[in-house]
Amino acid sequence: MDYSIETAPLEELQCDCIIVGVYQDQQLSPSATALNNITHGLVNNIVSRGDLSGKNGEAVLINAVPDSKIERILLVGLGEHQPLSAKNYKKALLAAVNSLKKPQIKSVICCLAECDVTDRDQQWKSRHIIEVFNDAAYQFTQLKSDKETESQLQKISISSTESEQALTHSGMLQGKAIAEGMNLTKHLSDLPGNICSPTYLAEQAVELSKKYASLDVKILEESDMTALGMGAFLSVSRGSRQPAKLITLSYQCGDKDAKPIVLIGKGLTFDAGGISLKQAASMDEMKYDMCGGASVLGTLLAVAQLQLPLNIIGLIPSSENMPDGDANKPGDIVTSMSGKTIEILNTDAEGRLLLCDTLTYAERFNPDVVIDIATLTGAVGVALGRVAMGVLGNDDALCNLLVASGETANDSAWRLPLWEEYQEQLKSNFADMTNSGGKDAGTITAACFLARFAEKFRWAHLDIAATAWRTGLTKGATGRPVSLLIQYLINRS
Ligand code: BES
Ligand code: MN
Ligand code: ZN
Repeated sequence: MDYSIETAPLEELQCDCIIVGVYQDQQLSPSATALNNITHGLVNNIVSRGDLSGKNGEAVLINAVPDSKIERILLVGLGEHQPLSAKNYKKALLAAVNSLKKPQIKSVICCLAECDVTDRDQQWKSRHIIEVFNDAAYQFTQLKSDKETESQLQKISISSTESEQALTHSGMLQGKAIAEGMNLTKHLSDLPGNICSPTYLAEQAVELSKKYASLDVKILEESDMTALGMGAFLSVSRGSRQPAKLITLSYQCGDKDAKPIVLIGKGLTFDAGGISLKQAASMDEMKYDMCGGASVLGTLLAVAQLQLPLNIIGLIPSSENMPDGDANKPGDIVTSMSGKTIEILNTDAEGRLLLCDTLTYAERFNPDVVIDIATLTGAVGVALGRVAMGVLGNDDALCNLLVASGETANDSAWRLPLWEEYQEQLKSNFADMTNSGGKDAGTITAACFLARFAEKFRWAHLDIAATAWRTGLTKGATGRPVSLLIQYLINRS
């Protein structure tokens, strides 16, 4: 995708489609007004005869524009004539981009950065246009014979005044970096488990570090993990023929002595549940159990592009969780790297077994904060649906910053409590703890488990099990929470 800024007056423009906003009660945005003048009242005609009421989420494509190098006009409803909420802005952008899925439309000029959005500046609007357009244009075609995509968008120009050009430009660069990060995240997530194995993920991390000189990679093999005593992690991978990997990416562009931000992403390339085998229905979706790991890769790609002045360590523990003669059995007791023992009541609660050893491993980086991102529990979808991801952690300030970053980025996150009463549910008669807190408050007890391995630093956990992909007809990865994480990192830099 090619991104650019357009500052020339409308009458000089040339494109397959121009996108302009219309408010309710037939009130035109500045560019809609300008376009109306050039086209001798075409826009007003459409609006006054009622073809577009201006409600947010509406869109009408005018596919013939007489005497103009603009081939089409897309009128987008913005709602009441007042500043839009960030969510309504996104809704309008989505309506726009969903009307562009036609092979003839390859280049568009978007004039929606001129709309006022509450508490958001030009930079944010420019960034958001690119994020939303890129997201909608993404399609997974690698494994289809017919590579034709619904959307053929190749060029997006954001219309801007000259005085706002600098902000439009920086927003565009942010948007482009986030877009590329999300595309990588989505692509790796959409790949099936027979291709995207732990070894494949590790290779992708190596590729990324070849592409960006600021990224260094190190892969720990199972033998290295044995030496470190990662008994919880290795107990999961023992049930799989694919060798496990612990991927470390390091990005050191901050102050030499600034403590790093550690991002840990769950990288289960397939989660069959192990001996506590999952049901057949939707089991294919467990190829997405590495979305957290993929979002760490996507985030680091964007960070490297933006050259943020930070120190960041990305850790991705990667394995499969399979039923096998050598797999974990319910009742097995394993010893984690921390020395704490864990009774495995349910072999399907494997994510925390990988994460607990990775959290202990993170201590050696002397982290400023540790944030883990994991498709950890189905229960988070019961609590928050597919709208917000869950945030839990041992540091109020960090949790609040993550929730606020999600709010800014339109990548919602909501905090759940981590009160010690919930720790009761992890009591074991035979070991220091169990790996499953039972049916109640599953997302919280999973985080309670992780908290026991995160006592030495400020830590937050993002449960993305319900937000990292869509089910049903539009099944596919969402690329979340790359934009939340980048927002947090931009705020920190
Ligand atoms: N990867 C799953 C979580 C998951 C479930 C993600 C559904 C997306 C959709 C995780 O490994 C898991 O199986 N969690 C169990 C934990 C339970 C056994 C304590 C769960 O959520 O059921
Ligand atoms: Mn599982
Ligand atoms: Zn899992």
